[in-house]
This record gives sequence, C-alpha cells and structure tokens, in this order.
Amino acid sequence: MRMPLFRGMKRKGAILLPGVILSSLLFAACDNSPSIIEPKGFVAGQESWLFWIILAVATLIFVIVESLLIYSIVRFRERPNTPAPEQIHGNNTLELLWTVIPSIFLFIVLFLTIRTMFALAQPNSSNKVVITAHAHQWWWEFDYQNQHITTADTLHVPANTTIQVNLFSDNVIHSFWVPQLTGKTDVVPGHDNHLWFNADQPSSTFYEGACAEFCGDQHAHMRFDVKVDSADDFNTWVSQQQAKAQTPSDSLAAKGQQLFAKGACTGCHGIVGVNLTSFDDPKAASLIGPNLTHFGSRDLIAGGVLTNTNANLATWLHDPQAVKSGNDMPNLNLSDSDIQALVAYLESLK
Ligand code: CUA
Repeated sequence: MRMPLFRGMKRKGAILLPGVILSSLLFAACDNSPSIIEPKGFVAGQESWLFWIILAVATLIFVIVESLLIYSIVRFRERPNTPAPEQIHGNNTLELLWTVIPSIFLFIVLFLTIRTMFALAQPNSSNKVVITAHAHQWWWEFDYQNQHITTADTLHVPANTTIQVNLFSDNVIHSFWVPQLTGKTDVVPGHDNHLWFNADQPSSTFYEGACAEFCGDQHAHMRFDVKVDSADDFNTWVSQQQAKAQTPSDSLAAKGQQLFAKGACTGCHGIVGVNLTSFDDPKAASLIGPNLTHFGSRDLIAGGVLTNTNANLATWLHDPQAVKSGNDMPNLNLSDSDIQALVAYLESLK
C-alpha cells in the first residue's frame, strides 16, 4: 500500500520537475551566461542550430507518443462489464509504420549531424591565430605560437579570425570548452587534438570557459575566460604581452620583485626580465606554474577560481591550499608584509 506522504512527494515532484527545467532554460538565457543557446561565433552557432533541430524532432516524437499513450490509457482502461479491446498483435501495417516513421526522423537527425560535422571539420579561413592550450591540473596555459607569448587563465582572441587551438596534456584527459564559442574537445595525453572557432565581434565582457572532463579533485575549478578583442585591441594586447616585465618604480612593489626573485617563487614561476630572458627561454619548460610576466593584466587567477583583485591574490598567497586544495602551490607561510609586497609587485605587471 502506498503511503499518503509518498503520494504527496510524487505530486510535488511532478510540479517541481517542469519548474526546474523551465528555470534552468530561463537562467541559461540570461546575458553573459556560459550557454550554448547564446552562440557568439560560427562554430557554436552551427552546434546550437543542430541542438534546436534535434530538440524539435525529439519534442515532436515525445508529444505524439505520449498523446497516444494517454489516449490509450483513458480510452481502453478497465471498466466493469467492458470486454477486452480488439488485440492488434501481429498487425503488419502498424509494425511497418512504427518502424519506418521513427527511422525517417533518425535519418534526418543523422544527416544533419554529419553535415554539421563536415562543415566544422576544417576552419573556413586560412588567416588564423594558432594557440596551444596546455591543460594542467588544474589550470589552463595558453601559448601563442607566432606571437611568442605565454599566458594563463585568460585567453585573448581577435574577433572575426579563425582561432586554431592545439590541445596538449601531459597528465590526464581534460576537455576544452567555451560554450558560447565552441563545443567540447578532449585534451588527451599523447594524442594531438585540435579545434577551431571564431567569434563574430569584439565582446564587452568575458566568455566563460571550463574543463569539461573529470580530471581530479579540482576539476570543477579548472576554468578560464575568453576576451574577444577588435583586431587593433588584440595587436595592442600582443605587443604589451611581448614586452618584458617592467621594473617597479614604487618601493613596495620593488620589495615584492626582490622577494619573487630570491624566494621560492622562481622554482615554479617565470617572469620574463627577472628569471627568464624571453617567453621562449628553455628554462621555462621546467617551470610548473603559470608564467607571471603580465600577471596584472589577467582577469582571473588561480586556475580561474578567483577574479584578479589585490584582496583575492593576498588570500591566495596566504594559503593556496585553503582556496584550492590539492593544487601544486604549497603554503609558503609568507608574512603579511611579504604578501603585501608581492601583491603590489604582481598586480603592477600589466
Ligand atoms: Cu581538467 Cu577537468
């Protein structure tokens, strides 16, 4: 026998479920959300279009099947003194219809999917920016092949340009995903995967990016963001990134630079002009942490967990493990005054 409480819960569930689906769709449609239904470039646009087509086909089938089911349940329900309805087992016409009609729908979906896959297989332009995305546990490093610069956490790309992303991992499998610009592509150790995307126009805000493959404790905190610049802004950004780190003019930042250069920081991090001669310095390959040459110009830090503010950087330096347990940066037990100096220095590196 069913408990009344259980019945009540089922009824609540029936009301809640559509509510949850509806609110997710509404939130997904909010501006600046990392939503696949708000594409901002050709690749994401094609993928989004395919999603809507498949959803439409699936909805149509769902409505037809459920309507027939409900009709049958009501029309042929058991009532007193009613004979069993006519049995249709072995009806060839019906068997044929419910095999052929779903097959037609499935072939439509298959055809459109394969067409989209071919349309997205190769970039639609030879004018491109090539970036290698190194997936670390748990942060993203971005190497700009022809510009000879390395950055992390925040990816800058020019609008209306093909962006080719070569995906590299020397640890576990990750997945590169910027919902509004491109679908997911796995980053597999020992396997050269790549993807491409482009963005329609410069963005006033950042598009969210994430790792979409479970890759360890902090998988959920392996994020980045993407800023789409105009061609001019992108060139300006590149020139700024190519420059060596500036020697600080104020005394607190100068103290921070000394701490960086003499402390444990240089064991993992590089700054061009301090412990690296250039972004291509062979020494850079042995450094396991992000290159910090233009740290202050980034939007996010700590593998995308924190926005880049003085307070957040101080929190991070105070105890990185408290912010993101299991990451490679140990608690260096820095004093508050050393943290202040390091924050002043790192944030001055624009
Ligand atoms: Cu990297 Cu999940």
